[in-house]
Amino acid sequence: MSDTENLPLRSAHWFAPHDLTGFIHRTAIQAEGFSKFAIENRPVVGIANSWSELVNCNIHFKLLAEAVKRGVLMAGGLPLEFPTISLGESLMKPTAMEFRNLMAMDVEESIRAYPLDAIVLLGGCDKTVPAQLMGAASADVPVIMLTGGPQEPAFFRGRQLGVGTDTWKYADELRAGTITQDDFDELEGSAKPSAGHCSEMGTASTMTSIVEALGMCLPGTASIPAVHARRAAAAEATGRRAVEMALHGPRPSEILTEQAFDNAITLLMAVGGSTNAVVHLLALARRVGYELQLDRFHEISQRTPRIVNVRPSGEHLVKQLFDAGGISAVLKELDPLLHGDALTVTGERLAEGYAAAPAPDGDVITSLDKPFDATGGIAVVRGSLAPRGAVIKRSAASAELLSHRGPAVVFEDIYDMGRRIDDPDLTITEDSVLVLRNSGPKGAPGMPEWGMLPIPERLLRKGVRDMVRISDARMSGTAFGTTILHVSPESAVGGPLAAVRDGDPIVLDVENQRLDLDIPHEEIDRRLAEIDPPKPKYRRGYGRLFLDHVTQADEGCDFDFLQKLPDEEPQTLPLGLTSGWQGGW
Ligand code: FES
Repeated sequence: MSDTENLPLRSAHWFAPHDLTGFIHRTAIQAEGFSKFAIENRPVVGIANSWSELVNCNIHFKLLAEAVKRGVLMAGGLPLEFPTISLGESLMKPTAMEFRNLMAMDVEESIRAYPLDAIVLLGGCDKTVPAQLMGAASADVPVIMLTGGPQEPAFFRGRQLGVGTDTWKYADELRAGTITQDDFDELEGSAKPSAGHCSEMGTASTMTSIVEALGMCLPGTASIPAVHARRAAAAEATGRRAVEMALHGPRPSEILTEQAFDNAITLLMAVGGSTNAVVHLLALARRVGYELQLDRFHEISQRTPRIVNVRPSGEHLVKQLFDAGGISAVLKELDPLLHGDALTVTGERLAEGYAAAPAPDGDVITSLDKPFDATGGIAVVRGSLAPRGAVIKRSAASAELLSHRGPAVVFEDIYDMGRRIDDPDLTITEDSVLVLRNSGPKGAPGMPEWGMLPIPERLLRKGVRDMVRISDARMSGTAFGTTILHVSPESAVGGPLAAVRDGDPIVLDVENQRLDLDIPHEEIDRRLAEIDPPKPKYRRGYGRLFLDHVTQADEGCDFDFLQKLPDEEPQTLPLGLTSGWQGGW
């Protein structure tokens, strides 16, 4: 590594000085059994590992971290793995989303506080990926992401399953009486056959695909299955590249540009991806000072055909998408709609990364001139019921319900819904519009994935499988149905959702981007003025911090104080470095 002598390594601020401070820093590393040689003029690559036995999707990350280390060592760097909190979608309550910003803070401050020249982010399960990206964007030290890959396809009685998508379907069939509890118990043993994130285009696969479109991972790596040998090889290559990035960049702020976000949104629409990605991209953009707006999603959706046939917006799983060329092949087909000259972690342009990808196979990936849908998967609606906007995943909705007028059936919160949804006295028909409030960022809190409200059992038994549902909640990326989500502002802060009463007419018109409570505005205002704000659910601790600072869905639900300030200077070195070493990194 003699050729790296005098290169502007950030870690040299810790290790280079021949004084007491440098002594203390070097002995801390040597106490772990490393020689002095290991840290002399050598790029230090941190591996931010979100492995946890509480997060099944990331359970293989210790092996991936070893492969990353191998790559770092091959390239002459020193790999140092560190843990951060991890967010498991299935087990965390009330919702992993409540802790996304906490994990982002953990990642940001770990990067800034330690002597790291570059960082490999290991993320997979839904919220781990945006949390890592957000934290890394704020720290602005060179980072490269390695995502965990989708788990193996599950099979149940010979039928391929999407982990979440088919669980929701079979749960409805159980309530409809078309399958038995024994059938459902048998499904439980088949649903998740391996490590890796959910196998369809749920939030995790959407976000990992977006990582590739943003240029934040090596090209071609997003959809490699979790257990495939190529994922470990990708980990090794990522480690090698991290060493180069430690010396030459680029930094996240050079990659996460307006063009990169346009590319990410274009991919989101083309794959029929998760509505959760809207919230995460709004938050990530604000970390780099870009005021991305909800309407940008709609604009790009209108010009972007859906060309990927993966559940819940299609038939296949991400494994088949990988076999058809993966996200690189999708990006290549989208080339006319992309900013191909956007910079990536490779130091090259996005278009160079997908240039060698195969042409569409016509089944899993189709061509732009023969799309599965003429427009993108997600639409934005506004109106008297959602003044600051709401979203709908139209690619997973029922076409006949995208224009609908029906009477509201209102649930105060998820507990009220649980008590009454199957009440035989509930006045409801298939034309009713189910409304759930107090499920947003502050109201729930944490904006859980409660937006796919269950169809009442008696309607399920009549064969009804979809209804218009409206809430200030989110929805699992694996879910489906005509569900209006992320209504903003939420009911708990006085949004008009709080004013809806049973029987009020609600009008949805997705084509014209409208969502209205069809009663006079004065009546909406009068009702809202009479409502006492709900009591905060937390009075202390992180929950209190969350309630005091979380932004609304149309701004990404980040904490207001974590968004980049207009006059903020890069602060890549921590306070408290006291040596006299004068190099810049
Ligand atoms: Fe982790 Fe779906 S539960 S990605």
